[in-house]
Amino acid sequence: MVAEKLRGARRVVALTGAGVSAESGVPTFRGAEGLWRKFRPEELATPQAFARDPVLVWEWYDWRRQKVAACSPNDGHRALAELGRRSFAFDLVTQNVDGIHRLAGSNPVWELHGSLWNLRCTACSRNREDRRAPLPSIPPRCECGGLERPGVVWFGESLPSNVLAHAFEVAGRADVFLVVGTSALVHPAASLPEVAGEQGALVVEVNPELTPLSGLVDLRLAGLSAAILPRILDAL
Ligand code: OAD
Repeated sequence: MVAEKLRGARRVVALTGAGVSAESGVPTFRGAEGLWRKFRPEELATPQAFARDPVLVWEWYDWRRQKVAACSPNDGHRALAELGRRSFAFDLVTQNVDGIHRLAGSNPVWELHGSLWNLRCTACSRNREDRRAPLPSIPPRCECGGLERPGVVWFGESLPSNVLAHAFEVAGRADVFLVVGTSALVHPAASLPEVAGEQGALVVEVNPELTPLSGLVDLRLAGLSAAILPRILDAL
């Protein structure tokens, strides 16, 4: 059914979450081994935490950068990159900050929550990419001397408005909307599938577990994204 719909689709959107990188070895946030089981978000992922202790926050992000640097794309990332090369318009929207979709060949990737590899100066707002892991010094400093922060979206912060606007626009026009590996608990990302469904898209969830979206989607494919996404491609 998904393959049949995809064959006739003009516009396809995929929204991904931490689950798509789980089989690459990147920890998810919730669930038994999830980051938020071991760490308190308010101590590490808020502007207040950074103001209080930038070194502690940077140590945590540097640890995550090192973990992700050791990970490679899996078949799920690769299948999504391949969808981007098919005849329909394809938008990949992700909540992930690991940058692995790009490594798999997806381009562009609409990163709703920013990227672990971006640094932003708190003084002059300059953005730069730095893929070194570990970073040579913590906390990193901008060439203007200002303190740099991770280029990610923290709790209580707004999402990048251009990315958010694009994501809602394409969700509203999608013929097929794939929701892959997200617990669908964090808004506004979790609203995108609902918008797509209201506008007539076939909404398909790929996740081994139930989520708040599971009862609303048109089709639930219960399983791991690295297994299910290649199967969808094969059937195309
Ligand atoms: P979560 O950790 O909340 O959810 C991961 C989801 O992936 C769960 O529903 C799992 O069942 C599912 N999953 C696990 N392994 C999978 C696999 N191999 N294939 C498919 N699905 C699998 O991660 P997110 O939904 O991405 O925000 O979390 C959303 C946001 O909450 C994150 O972007 C982050 C976090 O706080 C910020 O940091 C702003």
